[in-house]
Amino acid sequence: MGLESSCDETAAAILAPDGAILAETVLSQEREHAPFGGVVPEIAARAHLAFLPGRIQTVLAGAGLGFADLGAVAATAGPGLIGGLIVGSQIAKGIALARGLPYVAVNHLEAHALTPRLPGMVPGGAPFPYVLLLLSGGHCQCVLVCGVGAHERLGGTIDDAVGEAFDKVAKLLGLGWPGGPALERLASDGDPTRFRFPRPLLGRSGCDFSFSGLKTAVAQTVAKLAIGALPREVAADLAAGFQAAVTEVLADRAARALAMVGERCGAPPELLVVAGGVAANQAIRSALTEVATRAGARLVAPPVRLCTDNAVMVAWAAIERLRLGGRDGLDFAPRPRWGLETLAPPGGPA
Ligand code: KG4
Ligand code: ZN
Repeated sequence: MGLESSCDETAAAILAPDGAILAETVLSQEREHAPFGGVVPEIAARAHLAFLPGRIQTVLAGAGLGFADLGAVAATAGPGLIGGLIVGSQIAKGIALARGLPYVAVNHLEAHALTPRLPGMVPGGAPFPYVLLLLSGGHCQCVLVCGVGAHERLGGTIDDAVGEAFDKVAKLLGLGWPGGPALERLASDGDPTRFRFPRPLLGRSGCDFSFSGLKTAVAQTVAKLAIGALPREVAADLAAGFQAAVTEVLADRAARALAMVGERCGAPPELLVVAGGVAANQAIRSALTEVATRAGARLVAPPVRLCTDNAVMVAWAAIERLRLGGRDGLDFAPRPRWGLETLAPPGGPA
């Protein structure tokens, strides 16, 4: 059983030892946070505490299992909002202690990173190494995934995460929160060439990202228009222009990452994997498909429900770790900051 409570999704899942999904549930706290225009950590922690026990009952019932049937319990132990991390990991530890089960403290980023290895995701299984673009509201990084607990950071954002930029621009355009999906819908009616926004770091070496200048450029354009409430077609053109800029930058950065790895390893990696909420964006997916194909690789984009925060990925990451002999002590403290590159392959000395 895996639990996820690091941000604003309360999720639980039960997987069979081979990774087959027996039951899963994700409860978004969007309604709780929307009035504040973003995630409020205290509200999130209280909501996790209120909802997680019920979600656990739901997946147990859905899988037709009781606590006695579980083989291990895992929770996201970081990075994320500390209140939610404490709720999820204490509940998981409580179950582990009561039932004498192994406990696995899962790194949320590694859970996203190992998702393409879930059975059925890539025929024959996703082989290491692969390049991962993690694009969410809180994270924006490019990682070479070499194995369980073996990740190399190739680059990351130097300011805003890409989802954060979508959310902030959506707010400027008068859309609700979270703004990414609404912005994408609006952009589909817009002309991406009417407003030409900057492409931060385009063509630069490495694969770092920057989005705050782009967001500012959109804000300045909106201010210059000085027309109060934006007419829908203007907002659509702004959305399309912003999305085109983000897409071009992401495609450029991904191409760099594949080339960097290709140079180093003598051949490009087989797979480019995209995960995180922003991976739901169709324009971005198709641009990345092209990038991968051009580099002789293939894009793997898990289904949207497995790209956004969920507990299936937490349970799966735990299975991968358990298979290698990894389990954690009940004294493992949740970590609000916990970079992927600090992980070690499981099974070694603690
Ligand atoms: O991974 P996620 O569910 O949660 C974390 O941030 O960890 O990602 C949520 C982010 C939000 O910023 C949301 O606006 C963005 O993903 N997002 C999108 C789309 N769907 C969700 N951004 C662009 N286009 C979308 N279709
Ligand atoms: Zn996430």
